[in-house]
Amino acid sequence: MSILVTGGAGYIGSHAAIELLKTGYDIVIVDNLSNSNLESLNRVKELTGKNFIFYKCDLLERDELNTIFENHSFEAVMHFAGLKAVGESVEVPLMYYHNNIAGTINLCELMAKHDVKKLVFSSSATVYGHPDSVPIDESFPLSATNPYGRTKLMIEEILRDLHISDSTWRIALLRYFNPIGAHESGSIGENPNGIPNNLMPYVTQVAIGKREKLSIFGNDYNTHDGTGVRDFIHVTDLVKGHLKALEYLEKNNGIEAFNLGTGRGYSVMDLINTFSSINKKEIPFQFVDRRPGDIGSCYANPTKAEKVLSWRAEKDLKDMCTDSWKWQTQNPNGYN
Ligand code: NAD
Ligand code: UD1
Repeated sequence: MSILVTGGAGYIGSHAAIELLKTGYDIVIVDNLSNSNLESLNRVKELTGKNFIFYKCDLLERDELNTIFENHSFEAVMHFAGLKAVGESVEVPLMYYHNNIAGTINLCELMAKHDVKKLVFSSSATVYGHPDSVPIDESFPLSATNPYGRTKLMIEEILRDLHISDSTWRIALLRYFNPIGAHESGSIGENPNGIPNNLMPYVTQVAIGKREKLSIFGNDYNTHDGTGVRDFIHVTDLVKGHLKALEYLEKNNGIEAFNLGTGRGYSVMDLINTFSSINKKEIPFQFVDRRPGDIGSCYANPTKAEKVLSWRAEKDLKDMCTDSWKWQTQNPNGYN
């Protein structure tokens, strides 16, 4: 059985590729390498001892993508490809709408044409906007606060309409909370371009001396220590949820959203303290103003994924801090 993995050279896609290969799936990866490096795929091959076909192809290049569908018989698609930087999406919204939405529409049109109708889509907890309470379950109202988030919300709606028009589609909308960590070998991980926007890559770059100190965005939130609370989830747990979703789609019709989180919220200070004690590294920090658009607390109610997919995150914050640090120390300059 062959699975098309879009965005498979990226952070989450490369971890998913390992899990798929380990489980015995054949995969084909499509990525335009706009935010990734071929080296991640070499390492996937080394780690698994398995080979797969890679196409450097942009989802916007419809004819090229069509040829890939003609050359292979896919059972399902895992769709990770997309641009993901919130700040950048505010600066260049059209690029985000074009890439994420037009790319997904091309993909779905070709899936329909070639009768491949099982799709696992990378959505995000960002579709809950500013939730009224935590933990967040899948029935909470949806909204978006920036163009990146709107692309995720719009794609979810497009996929719901697609399913209404043709109920033979089987679609899982996986709403990720905060994926961090890296493969336990330390040889693949998150490889941000330039200054990291997200917390964990910034912390590891401070720890290794690339950046002087971490700015903590706000210490006056209504949380146990005033800093933001998030549902950090180990990337290898997250990708296991994708395989469970794939198994679910093999047996069930419909379109379903699932939260992929641990159900536990940890604050920015909790993360820093855990990182420092487990890795014996001090993280110099300063408190600065809140980051516009941030919310105080965001964590999942993961019960639906537990019940319906039989999936539960297993790794804890210490594992996440250990593995992120291992990746950073073994690859001080990422894949470069
Ligand atoms: P990533 O940037 O590491 O991976 C995305 C990959 O898609 C990259 O390799 C990039 O080159 C590729 N890509 C982008 N546009 C493309 C196009 N038009 N055609 C072909 N390839 C294209 O990001 P990631 O962290 O691995 O995220 C994967 C998915 O999960 C994204 O859709 C992202 O929005 C979503 N997501 C990520 C997070 C997170 O915190 N990392 C949270 C929620 C949702
Ligand atoms: C980010 C994205 C969100 C996406 C989510 C999933 C932004 C604004 N939002 O959410 O769309 O769905 O990832 O992974 O990028 N922090 C600091 N200092 C830093 C970086 C972060 O204090 O240098 C704090 C933030 O204020 C927040 C927490 O750390 O409280 C987590 O931040 P981050 O890793 O950027 O993730 P989110 O903002 O939760």
